[in-house]
Amino acid sequence: MRIFSGIQPTGAKHLGNFSGGFRQYAATQEQGDAFFCIVDLHSVTVPHDPEDLRARTLDLAALMFATGLDAERSTVFVQSHVTAHAESAWLLGCVATIGELRRMTQFKDKAGKRESVSVGLFTYPVLMAGDILLYQTDIVPIGDDQRQHLELSRDIAERFNSRFGETFTVPRGVYPEAGARIMDLQQPGNKMSTTGGNPQGTIYLLDPPEAVRKKVKTAVTDSGREIIHDPNEKAGISNLIEIMTVATGESIAEVEKRFESSGYGQFKSDVSDAVVALLEPIQARFREIRDDPAELERMLAIGAAKAREASAPTLEKMYERMGFTRPKGV
Ligand code: AMP
Ligand code: TRP
Repeated sequence: MRIFSGIQPTGAKHLGNFSGGFRQYAATQEQGDAFFCIVDLHSVTVPHDPEDLRARTLDLAALMFATGLDAERSTVFVQSHVTAHAESAWLLGCVATIGELRRMTQFKDKAGKRESVSVGLFTYPVLMAGDILLYQTDIVPIGDDQRQHLELSRDIAERFNSRFGETFTVPRGVYPEAGARIMDLQQPGNKMSTTGGNPQGTIYLLDPPEAVRKKVKTAVTDSGREIIHDPNEKAGISNLIEIMTVATGESIAEVEKRFESSGYGQFKSDVSDAVVALLEPIQARFREIRDDPAELERMLAIGAAKAREASAPTLEKMYERMGFTRPKGV
């Protein structure tokens, strides 16, 4: 089975990314042949600082290994190191339609907030479709916010297959059962997010324990007293329950049962303990791995070579099926 997912190097990574991203990467790598891509080309779709992008690319690689990716087993690489990604985006951009891209809610949200919107922000889902389809991907572990983009990737794959002949595997999204959309602790109606969120409501993976405790303690909750999962009526408590499942691996029902007779104060304090216990070893491994940038760069170079080899046949097939001539034997 082929597994592929991507994650952007800009912005500080948070517990939502851990839930929908990192922990699913580490789990799915056990199921087959896995590719995890640091999608730097996606990160330039909004204004960015070049030095920040450079530094954060290596930091993200370190975080991916610190959260359990195994360089022996999985291919971890940087999108811009494999030119097939930019090439496939052009080809698929001629298959996707303006109408379907216009419907993307993430584009509408992000574009609505700025005066000047890049063409890249609009065509971003096409680049993402290429990322996935180039690897004949069966499953894509992601969070709920990427569902619409994944559905679009499937539509593009099917359209290409029917127009030019069977070329792509049609991928399936894999979402966590609990924690597919971790919410902001201060505004539990909004997802925890690097860009749109409130820093006090966002638990960053590199937050020190005191910061985690403070954020959980001040999390917005409703006026009731029961610790039950009901996202419509009790958004804040439901989010904390899901955070607990992410930290301990329990189910929602198990958490509800364990805190059946506790109050919010006790529950919040136990949630902080669990999150701190989750993050501490990740942070220690991160610091160790980050201390050796030459080794990280070496691992990414190996990853890029493997990704080039794995994606080349599909890119070649795309060119051929679409009727391009190919340079021959010089
Ligand atoms: P990004 O940092 O935007 O590249 O996202 C990396 C991964 O984290 C993607 O699979 C997202 O779907 C996932 N993700 C981002 N925010 C959340 C959230 N609040 N809850 C669950 N998953 C999330
Ligand atoms: N758009 C995704 C996000 O912001 C990142 C991404 C890019 C991705 N290419 C991908 C995720 C391919 C899964 C598969 O989270």
